[in-house]
Amino acid sequence: MNQEFSPVLPANHPLRTEDSAQSTAQSALIKGYRGEVPDRRPVWFMRQAGRSLPEYRKLREGTTMLDSCLIPEMASEITLQPVRRHDVDAAIFFSDIVIPLKLAGVGVEIQPGVGPVLDAPIRTPQDIANLPEITDEMFEPITEAVKLTVAELGPRPLIGFAGAPYTVAAYMVEGRPSRDHLGPRTMMYNDPESWDRLMSWTAEASGRFLRAQIMAGASAAQLFDSWAGSLSRTNYLDKVMPYSQQALEHIEDLTGDNGVPLIHFGTGTGEILDLMRDTGATVVGVDYRLRLDEANRRLGNTPGPDGRTNVVLQGNIDPALLDADWDVLETHVREVIAQGAKAPGHVLNLGHGVPPTTDPTVLTRLVELIHSIDY
Ligand code: CP3
Repeated sequence: MNQEFSPVLPANHPLRTEDSAQSTAQSALIKGYRGEVPDRRPVWFMRQAGRSLPEYRKLREGTTMLDSCLIPEMASEITLQPVRRHDVDAAIFFSDIVIPLKLAGVGVEIQPGVGPVLDAPIRTPQDIANLPEITDEMFEPITEAVKLTVAELGPRPLIGFAGAPYTVAAYMVEGRPSRDHLGPRTMMYNDPESWDRLMSWTAEASGRFLRAQIMAGASAAQLFDSWAGSLSRTNYLDKVMPYSQQALEHIEDLTGDNGVPLIHFGTGTGEILDLMRDTGATVVGVDYRLRLDEANRRLGNTPGPDGRTNVVLQGNIDPALLDADWDVLETHVREVIAQGAKAPGHVLNLGHGVPPTTDPTVLTRLVELIHSIDY
C-alpha cells in the first residue's frame, strides 16, 4: 500500500492501491499538483466534457442535463469521452455544481443556453428554514458513477469537484444566472442570520458532495467559486471565506500534504488569490485575466497564517484563443508555460471553461503541443 497518502482513504483508493494498473500516485497530474517534475507536462481543460464534443451531444439526445448526471453509466461515459479523444492527463467528473441541490430535493433544472434555474428563488428566512436535510445516502448515484469511471480510467486520475458555497448560493438567491449577483450581496449585509443559515447549508451540501467523490475514488478535488470575483476582498473575507472553509472541513482528513490535491478556482479573483489559498487549497486556479508570474508574485508576497507562500498554479490559457489562428494560440501557450515556470509547480488548463463552439480537434492538437514541450 502506498504509505504516502492519508490512511483515511480506502485501501483500494487509486492514490493508495499497490495495483499499478489502477494507481494514480505516479501520474503526471498528481506529481504536477505536488510540485514534482512529471514525465510529461500535465494538462486538462475545465468543461472538457460537454457540448464541444459531437459524441456528447449524441449521447445526451432526449435526456436532460441533470438527469444525465444522475444516470451513473451515462455520467461515467461522458466523463471518459474527452480523455479518449484528447489524451488529457485527468478526467473531470461529469456533474454540476447544483447536483447536491437536486439530490436533496430542491427544484432546479439546467436551461439550455441559460444555466441553473430554480423553481423558486431562496430569499426569505422561511425559504431557508424549508431547505431539505442533506444526507450521505443521497449521493449514491454519484458514488456509483465515480466507481465506474475510476475502474475505466486506470492510472489516469479523476478530479472531483463542487461549487463553493457562494457560487451555489448566488444561484439559489437569484433563482437563475445573473451578472452582478445583487441578491446575495444584499442578503449578506441586510440579513446576516439568513445568510449564515443559507451558506452553512450550501457548505454542507458542497462538502459532502466532495467527500463522496473522493471516497469513491477521485484523486484530486476542485472547488469552483466561479463568481467570487464579484466580491470585494472584505466581502470575501467576512461573508464567504468562512463558509468555503466550512465546506472543506468535510474533507480535511482527506486533503493536506498527504491527501488529495485540492484546487481552488474562481474567475476575476486576482485580488483574493492568497485568501483562496488560505482556505486550505494546495493548488490555486488562475483565470485568463492575470499572468501566472504575477499570480505567483502576489502569492509569494502574502504568506498565509501557516507561513505558506506560493502554491502550485493551474491555468490559464485564454479560451478565446482556441478560436484564433494556430500560430497565435501556440505563441500564447508557450508564454503561459514560461510565466508558470516561476511557480513551485504548474498544471496547464484554460483560464475558464471550454466554449461550446470550440473545434475539438484544436483541443487534441493543443494537448499534443503541451506534451511535446519539455521542462
Ligand atoms: O467537463 C467538465 O468540466 C465537467 C462538468 C462540469 C459541468 N458543470 C457540466 C455542465 C463542471 C465542472 C461544471 C461546473 C459548473 N456548473 C460551474 C463552475 C465552473 C464554471 O464554469 O465556472 C458553474 C458555474 C455551473 C453552473 C452551470 N451549469 C452553468 C453556468 C451552465 C451553462 C449553461 C449554458 O447552457 O450555457 C451549466 C450547464 C452545464 N454544466 C453544461 C455542462 C456540460 C451544459 C449543459 C448542456 O450540455 O446543455
